Amino acid sequence: MGSMTKVMRKICQGGALDGAAAGGARAAPSSTATALAEQTSSATSAFVEDGTPQTAATSAVNGQTVRWRPQQVDQAIVAFHRRHGAICEQYRGLRARLLSMNLPQAAQVIAITSAVPEEGKSVCAINLALVMAEGSEHRILLVDADFRRAALAGMLGIPRTPGLADVLRHEVQPAAALQPSPLPNLKVLPAGKVPDGAHGELLGSGGAAAVLAEFRSAFDYTFLDMPPITTVSDVSLLGPQCDGAVIVIQMQRTPEPTVQQAVRTLQANNIKVLGAVLSRCAEHGPGYYDYYDSSGDHD
Ligand SMILES: Nc1ncnc2c1ncn2[C@@H]1O[C@H](COP(=O)(O)OP(=O)(O)OP(=O)(O)O)[C@@H](O)[C@H]1O
Ligand SMILES: [Mg+2]
Repeated sequence: MGSMTKVMRKICQGGALDGAAAGGARAAPSSTATALAEQTSSATSAFVEDGTPQTAATSAVNGQTVRWRPQQVDQAIVAFHRRHGAICEQYRGLRARLLSMNLPQAAQVIAITSAVPEEGKSVCAINLALVMAEGSEHRILLVDADFRRAALAGMLGIPRTPGLADVLRHEVQPAAALQPSPLPNLKVLPAGKVPDGAHGELLGSGGAAAVLAEFRSAFDYTFLDMPPITTVSDVSLLGPQCDGAVIVIQMQRTPEPTVQQAVRTLQANNIKVLGAVLSRCAEHGPGYYDYYDSSGDHD
């Protein structure tokens, strides 16, 4: 068992969520990784080619949809580009666990964060929101709450404004700021225009709590793409409004003590750690493939 696997066990101790592995498009030249890469190139996006089948549930949410341009959507967004691949299936495993944890079926606000920068939070948040919206059973909102390194709009090729910051500055109403997606029950709220130095001030305002409460009443699941925990304190500002956090850990990069520190910070802020997602597993050698194997689904 690798040391990161042990970290995951510790994080998830007694918790409902096991670690989920979500590898990436930057696969190393190994057999498993190559297989993933091949799936990547051959699969097509049903969002683009087929549209979303209309079901009773779809018409219930009856949301407006918009096409995302494949060439503008980041290749790591497997839930858009490679919906039938093994990595996307890992996200569906994460979805199943989140759904099973939420037995009362209460609306949930979930922060996606990591110990240090660039571990794959934004990629994870987008993929998770997309798979959560599949099937149209739940109303999903994806919010860019990382005002320092806003990434959602760029990764999806959608307008950067209006966004959360514009809502918090009372420039636009929350409902008017939500952008449609290719799925009728998924809405996206980019970061918007953040005045210099106003990051913490906007997120820490009472307005942020009110806006999140509004989202909670309108959506079943709200995913917040957050900054890293150990470098900025923003997670503590929105923490009280969240039901829990998912920590993204990039394999063989983030030292275990750093991850533990991040978990302690979350706990100190009364933010429940729902579980951890290992990112870019496919890049790090055969010792990590057991996560893929354990899913039993390589389609
Ligand atoms: N699983 C993955 N496979 C391939 N590339 C990935 C994967 N996850 C992330 N990346 C790439 O790594 C970069 C960083 O990812 P991302 O922006 O999701 O990280 P982050 O933790 O949100 O970073 P930040 O701390 O800056 O907000 C992006 O360019 C993204 O395309
Ligand atoms: Mg990010």
